[in-house]
Amino acid sequence: MKKAGHRIKQRIFDNVKEFYKAYHWIDSTKKRIEHIPYAGRVFDENELIALVDSSLDFWLSAGRYMSKFESNLEKFLGVNFVTFVNSGSSANLLAMSSLTSSKLTDRRLKSGDEVITTASCFPTTLAPVIQNNLVPVFIDVDLGNYNIQVEKIEKAISSKTKALFVAHTLGNPADMSLICRLAKKYKLWLIEDNCDALGSKYKGKRTGSFGDISTLSFYPAHHITTGEGGAVVTNDKVLNRIIRSFRDWGRDCWCESGYDDSCKKRFNFKFGKLPFGYDHKYVYSHIGYNLKATDMQAAIGVAQLKKLPDFIDRRKDNFAILYNGLKAYGKSLILPTWEKEADPAWFCFPITVREGAGFKREELTLFLEKSGIQTRLIFAGNILRQPAFMNIKHRVVGGLFNTDIVMKNSFFIGVYPGIADKEMNYIIKKFDIFFKERQ
Ligand SMILES: Cc1ncc(COP(=O)(O)O)c(C=O)c1O
Repeated sequence: MKKAGHRIKQRIFDNVKEFYKAYHWIDSTKKRIEHIPYAGRVFDENELIALVDSSLDFWLSAGRYMSKFESNLEKFLGVNFVTFVNSGSSANLLAMSSLTSSKLTDRRLKSGDEVITTASCFPTTLAPVIQNNLVPVFIDVDLGNYNIQVEKIEKAISSKTKALFVAHTLGNPADMSLICRLAKKYKLWLIEDNCDALGSKYKGKRTGSFGDISTLSFYPAHHITTGEGGAVVTNDKVLNRIIRSFRDWGRDCWCESGYDDSCKKRFNFKFGKLPFGYDHKYVYSHIGYNLKATDMQAAIGVAQLKKLPDFIDRRKDNFAILYNGLKAYGKSLILPTWEKEADPAWFCFPITVREGAGFKREELTLFLEKSGIQTRLIFAGNILRQPAFMNIKHRVVGGLFNTDIVMKNSFFIGVYPGIADKEMNYIIKKFDIFFKERQ
């Protein structure tokens, strides 16, 4: 870049910094408690500067920030390949679709193959199973933990079962020891929906690094944000090539955006019934999509990733404040539980109102909402009771008793890094008032 360009850029960055201070910055010590969202963006001038820097490049599609974001995430997770995409839902779609690739020969997923998962889930964990003509097999979840009941997995495996699609619900790692052992024993693909759990660990290893493929979401509610955004993660070179092919229109070519002939054989291949030498850039080995994200989103991600260790600590601290403050109400509320080997980077604080508590979930959530404390339900509840999913082809093994309780009695509140200590204490005070009124 010319010298003058550098100078102007620096001036723009200085202005952006000033703008951040004037427009976005809030003195948290003077902030009044009015509304405590369950999640939100946490950023400073660094995210704005990265975004502006990338927009001044005007490269727009995958560029220098994309490679940096992907390789920084690879390092953080301890994995070989990260592919940045435009959402966590797209990441799940790519994870499932890529396993149908003919490049996987006899291990490819075929129409009618079964995938074991849970009905207490986010809709786009399940949707790609159905979109790929696969049959979900549902297992119940544990209350408090909200993860798949691992002891029932083996019973659910049939000759058609080919994959396990397991979410680390709300940041809480599933029992990866047993799940990995079963996946290995029965030669099942293992996919982790890690969208809510970036930074969580199981036996000291990051969730999202256990499965054949895992996924992330960077929607603002999650541990880091790129606005919209997600990622597909794998250690396997072949799977990575397939994932990128499905992401990039189904093309066979693996050149990065703006590059040609990385393989040095661009006009020397023979594919399908195409004439020899048909330009590799226009050869399609999969029926794919375009699910790419932009370099501007990646630029925000690079800045956010630097904050991730602090974000994780803050989430854990906020979780601990709530846990200690609400322990007294264990007779009425099921508080979160986690595996002995799990070190969760909590997405939120889940609560289930016990049957016989003497009040309904709605009484409590309405009270909290009126007090300015935002609440959310645990996603789809029992997804088989949702209008779009009522009539899907599926199997249930062992009943969905707890899944229905989650639908009726569970909800969550926030622990995200934007919530300060005094707000956490305010939340506990409100719970105290709620329970005092019912004594
Ligand atoms: C467990 C889980 N999977 C997938 C998604 C989808 O992610 P996105 O909103 O980025 O599409 C979400 C969204 O919050 C989620 O919680």
